Amino acid sequence: MKSKAGHRNPKPYAHYLNTFVLHFRPRTIPEGTLKFTHTWGLGGMATVLVMLLMGTGLLLKFYYLPSPEKAYQSVLYLKNEVLFGGLVRNIHYWSANLVLMVVFLHFIRVFLTGAFHAPRRFNWVVGLCIFLLLLLSNFTGYLLPWDQLSYWAVTISVGMLEYLPFAGRWLQEMIQGGVEMGPATLSNFYAIHTAVLPVLLVSLLLFHFWRVRKAGGVVIPRKPDSPGENQERRVPTIPHLLLRELTVALAVVAVILVLSILFEAPLMEKANPGLSPNPTKAPWYFMGIQELLLHFHPLFALLVIPLSALFFIFTLPYFHYPENPSGIWLISAKGRKMAWITILFAVPVTVVGILIQARFQPSPAGALNVQATLSGGAIPLVLCVMVMSGFCLIIKRLFSADRNETVQNFVLFLLTAFLVFTVTGIWFRGSGMRLMWPWGGM
Ligand code: HEM
Repeated sequence: MKSKAGHRNPKPYAHYLNTFVLHFRPRTIPEGTLKFTHTWGLGGMATVLVMLLMGTGLLLKFYYLPSPEKAYQSVLYLKNEVLFGGLVRNIHYWSANLVLMVVFLHFIRVFLTGAFHAPRRFNWVVGLCIFLLLLLSNFTGYLLPWDQLSYWAVTISVGMLEYLPFAGRWLQEMIQGGVEMGPATLSNFYAIHTAVLPVLLVSLLLFHFWRVRKAGGVVIPRKPDSPGENQERRVPTIPHLLLRELTVALAVVAVILVLSILFEAPLMEKANPGLSPNPTKAPWYFMGIQELLLHFHPLFALLVIPLSALFFIFTLPYFHYPENPSGIWLISAKGRKMAWITILFAVPVTVVGILIQARFQPSPAGALNVQATLSGGAIPLVLCVMVMSGFCLIIKRLFSADRNETVQNFVLFLLTAFLVFTVTGIWFRGSGMRLMWPWGGM
């Protein structure tokens, strides 16, 4: 479009940008939601990481060959011979690992600011499904280089299913595409990783963003004890929110680039199905479950505990709460104090539990009989639930806490214990999965 003086008028471009941005964002937003410490920009960071993953994933597809004979060679070729091939692979690797941590922190932020209450209840469920899809994407991608690390990490993870009663063996064979890991496993994982999961992920993410918008944007920050939602001053999305989002995006890209230049994505020697490393560990995000398996009967470690915990977390927004403290970090000053006490109690108690169990019963029996399931599963689980609930009830009494504060405490206990399990599995397990210091010996 030309102005009267014959110059190009820049207005249309700004107009296109505005139209594009305002499809995803409202025209104005409450000023308080711009504060970085309200959301920490975590949802935006996760979005940028997913975009990096999709972009680099597409580029990797040009060189990767999904068969056990050629996969490893194709990754080596990409890494050593293709211009910027190694860098693209490193960016994909670091984005994949970082996105899990960032999304976990986003989940914690949403939980601790009470942003899972109505009208955001269903978006909590959608978010959790996205989290599960991301875990699956990571896991299916892990196998693709077909080196010793990826082959055995996936073998041990899929092998855990064998312990499940009735459907375990069937499930394991279905995932592997046969009785053992081989060409069918790799092509299954490749198809799921590069086609099925990205489509599901992008669809759910778009739905997630739409629900955020439909709920009127992110929850408005409130001070403890302030009644009702704030009547906040509103400011235009462009430039206020847009500039902040671009800054966060640039920072994320910078961090990923630095990590990718300084640290190579791991690649060991080609997979050797006849030579398992000792210890054989699952990918880091499944180490909590592998650690559970060392303490509980497989029926409990793989089924009862993860499914009950997931069910509890998924349905959290649908409990009956007398109040809806959305937008307040940790609910109240009291809630904050309770949270610290819970975390400081949960860490040593979980560590002591792990030590006692390792000392007296190194590994629970996996047999599917009444005695094994009682002594290795039901009794220790009931003891753990009693300690957790007992502690939360005592704290509830001591602080005269309400239901929101009590539920928050229980979830924090659960998450802290799971994180201690994960850290133990990653850094404190050595040869034969025995407990040891990260620097050796114990
Ligand atoms: C790749 C995964 C994810 C991406 C890209 C993503 C992205 C976003 C973005 C951009 C926002 C708005 C800004 C912000 O809160 O930072 C948001 C809000 C939200 N997310 Fe996510 N999210 C993801 C996963 C999750 C998970 C795992 C959960 C929870 C289980 C979740 C639940 C929510 C909820 C309830 C909101 C509304 C929060 C509020 O109103 O304050 N999301 N998400």
